[in-house]
Amino acid sequence: MLAVSLDGRLAPPSGGAAQLGGSGDRRVLEEALAWSDAALIGAGTLRAHRCSCLIRDQDLLEERRVAGRSPQPAALVISRCGRFPQEWPFFQQPFDRYLLCESGLPAPGFQQGLRLSRRWNETLTSLSSQGWSRLVLLGGAVLIHALLAQDAVDELQLTLSPRILGGPFTWLQQTETPLPAALASEQAWSLLEARPLGGDEFLVHYRRNRSMSS
Ligand SMILES: NC(=O)c1ccc[n+]([C@@H]2O[C@H](COP(=O)([O-])OP(=O)(O)OC[C@H]3O[C@@H](n4cnc5c(N)ncnc54)[C@H](OP(=O)(O)O)[C@@H]3O)[C@@H](O)[C@H]2O)c1
Repeated sequence: MLAVSLDGRLAPPSGGAAQLGGSGDRRVLEEALAWSDAALIGAGTLRAHRCSCLIRDQDLLEERRVAGRSPQPAALVISRCGRFPQEWPFFQQPFDRYLLCESGLPAPGFQQGLRLSRRWNETLTSLSSQGWSRLVLLGGAVLIHALLAQDAVDELQLTLSPRILGGPFTWLQQTETPLPAALASEQAWSLLEARPLGGDEFLVHYRRNRSMSS
């Protein structure tokens, strides 16, 4: 799930820590976190923000408490190197931290290292077997492209932020790895929800329609 400008950017032309979403987006972000077992975070997003999103709304925290779940979903950081300054706020935030990397080796600040397979479906199956089946993908663009390139994204939830940013930071990072042609089919995605969030923001929520387009 992402907050994107009207021209499809997720960060300003200078890059850095983008805060595109307003209060409506914050609420849907927290709802998604409250639903989830874990959040997938690209290392670039962690480097830009040095922290991650927390559920703060009391009703959502209460729902998780009643359901016997931890207050916050786990944070799963995807990185090849896994070395981050320990003084970043991320390492003091109140959630479990895991590093997903090819070696699966642990790194400082993380409870454990988890093995990242070259096939995302294998990684997702492995995460599910460890209790993380509801995953929220927090970005950024490189990580989203990696998952979409293997058709491993089930839902897309975008908040449109009423601004035009220009610049290179589209929400899908262009790489040499092509996307599957099936994603371009007009039956590829079904609309689940579309609604204004207030503050001129608008939510669109699509589900991957695998039976029709693959
Ligand atoms: N508007 C929004 O909702 C939103 C949401 C998220 C992020 N953002 C913005 O997006 C920007 C950061 O995004 P980004 O695209 O530059 O970075 P990103 O996707 O967050 O992270 C890229 C990094 O993640 C690791 N990675 C990703 N895919 C991998 C894979 N398949 N295998 C191994 N490692 C993988 C690599 O880390 P290593 O280099 O450590 O190997 C890679 O350099 C920031 O400006 C942030 O503010 C905006």
